[in-house]
Amino acid sequence: MKNTGMVGKSLALIASLGLGLALGAAPVRAADKAKALEVFKDRKCHDCHGMTAHGIGKPKKAEAAEDEEGTQKEAPDLSTLSPEVMKQADPVAFVSDYLKKKAELNGKKHKKIFKGSSAELKNLAEVMVEETKKKAK
Ligand code: HEC
Repeated sequence: MKNTGMVGKSLALIASLGLGLALGAAPVRAADKAKALEVFKDRKCHDCHGMTAHGIGKPKKAEAAEDEEGTQKEAPDLSTLSPEVMKQADPVAFVSDYLKKKAELNGKKHKKIFKGSSAELKNLAEVMVEETKKKAK
């Protein structure tokens, strides 16, 4: 029974991971994906963006991506964020600022300002960044 050492170690690791997750889930911290997707739909993001990997299909009106000057720039699918966003020093803070029109992406502000609470915005940004990191693995 020399193998039990390995198994024992794995179990201990799993147990400590479980504990870590439980602690991480305590009050404010852990990003809530279900909530983020709800906010995404409720706050009209889905007018222009899809999140196809997370069950939110392509937006119905592609023309919604037209800006004030009438220039068309297709809104990207937000299942994952672009390298331009992910290379920011703090992608979560950047996405939050960008959606508050306080930061620019590729020299431009986002078309729509986020109208929800900052907690909603932060959670949504965290989920988007987390999902992008998962996909990159
Ligand atoms: C009127 C259409 C429209 C709406 C509504 C809209 N967006 Fe956008 N969004 C765009 C367009 C167009 C771009 C691409 C801008 C660019 O690349 O310069 C963009 C870019 C982004 C990006 C950067 C994506 C990347 O990885 O480069 C994020 C994040 C984003 N939007 C989030 C949101 C969220 C969250 C909402 C809802 C609160 C939302 N958007 C609502 C049109 C829209």
